Amino acid sequence: MTATLLDGLGVLVTNDPTHPHGDGTPLGRLVDGAVVLADGAIAWVGPRRMAPAVDVRLDLGGRALLPGFVDSHTHLVFARDRVGDFTAVTGGRPEAAGGIASTVAATRAADDAALRTTATRLRGELTRAGVTTVEVKSGYGLTIADEARCLALAGELTDEVTFLGAHVVPPEYAQDRAGYVALVCGAMLDACAPAAHWVDVFCDVGAFDVDEARAVLLAGQERGLGLRVHANQHAPGPGVQLAVELGAASADHCTHLTDRDIEALAAGSTVATLLPTADLGVRGPFPDARRLLDAGAVVALATDCNPGTSFTTAMPLVVALGVLALGMTPDEAVWAATAGGARALRRGDVGQVRVGARADLLCLDAPIPEYLAYRPGVDLVHAVWRAGTVVHRGR
Ligand code: NIG
Ligand code: FE
Repeated sequence: MTATLLDGLGVLVTNDPTHPHGDGTPLGRLVDGAVVLADGAIAWVGPRRMAPAVDVRLDLGGRALLPGFVDSHTHLVFARDRVGDFTAVTGGRPEAAGGIASTVAATRAADDAALRTTATRLRGELTRAGVTTVEVKSGYGLTIADEARCLALAGELTDEVTFLGAHVVPPEYAQDRAGYVALVCGAMLDACAPAAHWVDVFCDVGAFDVDEARAVLLAGQERGLGLRVHANQHAPGPGVQLAVELGAASADHCTHLTDRDIEALAAGSTVATLLPTADLGVRGPFPDARRLLDAGAVVALATDCNPGTSFTTAMPLVVALGVLALGMTPDEAVWAATAGGARALRRGDVGQVRVGARADLLCLDAPIPEYLAYRPGVDLVHAVWRAGTVVHRGR
């Protein structure tokens, strides 16, 4: 076993408010801190003057060290981008956009190799952006066979695989919504649940109503899947309340919230996952993170990487928007993109720098994490470790 000491840190963000040498805030900052990695895990965290003897010492030159980002919401398995939609919408011709249905048609027509190439390329982008844990959804197949193969491809990239057969009603079921919901709740889940950890449903105008969404979530739960909900993205609605009522791990988007939605999130166990690049992508309003946080809700930030509304892997930009557009403090946004994402995936082994956690780390070419918001859109990633191995070296 080789033990490596990461030394010469600027601020160390642990997300451990109880660390005896930390500052006691949720970020658990240590100044003059050091970290020892061994066997893919964090073996020691503390002041550098107390560091144990190690085999290898790496001086990080005064740079900040954080837990790797946990991106708890992506749609990486699809064929063909939708730059044509983007050009149409931004050019004032929204009626010319093909929407999710056009990605479904392209994905069905693509072979596994093409889908794998795109998903792997995007996973690589996420790594270079500092993401060390990622959730990946299906949702562009929408037949039993296509959903099953999209989940298998997602499973090549991550353990956090989500079945989103209820993304939209596919065109061949346009006249038979009930038939599609029955397919999802029956044969499709039977075939897909073994390859997934989570079930998600898009509960919103233009997608599934609350009764349909409830049926899909309960059918997934019966087969052992955890629950996630795309909720209140385009309009206020029942999605958030449904997520909280069923104890879903996460209600995602939360762009349009009522006071009752906020109270429910604050009182329940469901994380509010905010996706500001998706709000930016549709030139819509941003969610009011300040009200959620002040009410006591747990907030996560994620990319929603998908070919339509949010074709980005830039988790640092998501953090910047959390601060600059959503009203979060830098500490809240950094926590939401690391520990918050881990909470949204109900993971205790990532999103923190504490003994026993997986050694997933992000070193910024900046002394403190506030630079993520202070320098929006600038690539500040210096190095990324996953399970103790360097997976990216940047500037
Ligand atoms: O999370 N909200 C639904 N689904 C995606 C958009 C998918 C697409 O446009 O292809 C989202 O924003
Ligand atoms: Fe999404």
